[in-house]
Amino acid sequence: MDSGNSSDVLPEDLSASVESFFETAPPLRDSSLTAQKLQAFIDRNSKPSEDGRPVRVVCITSGGTTVPLEQRCVRYIDNFSSGHRGAASTEYFVKAGYAVIFLHRRGSCQPYCHRLPEDALLDLFEVGEDSSIQVCQSHSAVVKKAIRDYRTAVERGQLLRLPFTTIFEYLQLLRIIAISMKQLGPYGMFYLAAAVSDFYVPWESMAKHKIQSSSGPMDMRLSQVPKMLSVLRKDWAPMAFCISFKLETDADILLQKAEIAMKKYQMHIVVANLLATYKREVTVVTDNGTIDVRKQGEDSDVEDELIKILIDRHCKHLEQSGI
Ligand code: PMT
Repeated sequence: MDSGNSSDVLPEDLSASVESFFETAPPLRDSSLTAQKLQAFIDRNSKPSEDGRPVRVVCITSGGTTVPLEQRCVRYIDNFSSGHRGAASTEYFVKAGYAVIFLHRRGSCQPYCHRLPEDALLDLFEVGEDSSIQVCQSHSAVVKKAIRDYRTAVERGQLLRLPFTTIFEYLQLLRIIAISMKQLGPYGMFYLAAAVSDFYVPWESMAKHKIQSSSGPMDMRLSQVPKMLSVLRKDWAPMAFCISFKLETDADILLQKAEIAMKKYQMHIVVANLLATYKREVTVVTDNGTIDVRKQGEDSDVEDELIKILIDRHCKHLEQSGI
């Protein structure tokens, strides 16, 4: 049985920086409503499915976090991520019977929309002679499929979408989700594809109003965001199956960095990808080797094969957990 290393304690300096991050973060808006929605979703999906087995629940993080530079924010530092990976992965997990908590950046790519034209929404529609609005014939098959699949996921209670923008919102939400998912034990999974800020301006030292350019060049010291991966593994949801991502631009260091991250944060799997090729290939790094996954054709997604491999590994994790 995987103990999840729950007996391990966090190093004192990490514990202190995690505590300070949450204590000084601006409180989450609607946190009690979000907690209620989350609990209802988890309770519904904790009941055994038709085959008598508990439903598996995955929290997918998607999109980039921002770091505000002003409390009444005009300027911010952003992280690269369109949210495509998280959105496409959500569809494949739902198709495989998982319930998905989709923790996503506001305005980023959404599940069931990733085959629709991204920047030309109005090109999808035409106005009929009787003034009715219809989807153009050229897009009707893809729109119908998207609507059907989305509605099915929602009606079956398999999809909960929770939005974030800033690093403060993201980490507070991740903590609430992880603590709620603790009750699922090894049936819970984390698929951490979001691009998370490494540096931030602590709320109390942040300018309240718009920084004035008339004051001349700006010097700014950023604090390090505590890596929450170890906290997630050791404290928040120690039995859950955890997958994190590693994005690099230099192919020579990618696998080495992924292996280090796997050991350091006790991840079950790290998915390694390069900025230049991440849409068509990834490498799954496990504790007993690597698997290269490639997109099979123009109309396919690399996530299709990737999610199959991860689900297979999750099943093995359940077996090893004595289930
Ligand atoms: O959204 P797309 O455009 O489709 O792009 C997908 C992607 C390239 C963003 C995705 O595949 C990906 O690689 N996501 C992780 C990018 C990243 O931020 O890598 P990293 O090396 O900085 O972080 C590694 C892991 O640590 C991540 O799982 C992250 O969630 C976590 N992290 C990072 C910083 C931090 N302070 N705390 C964290 O927990």
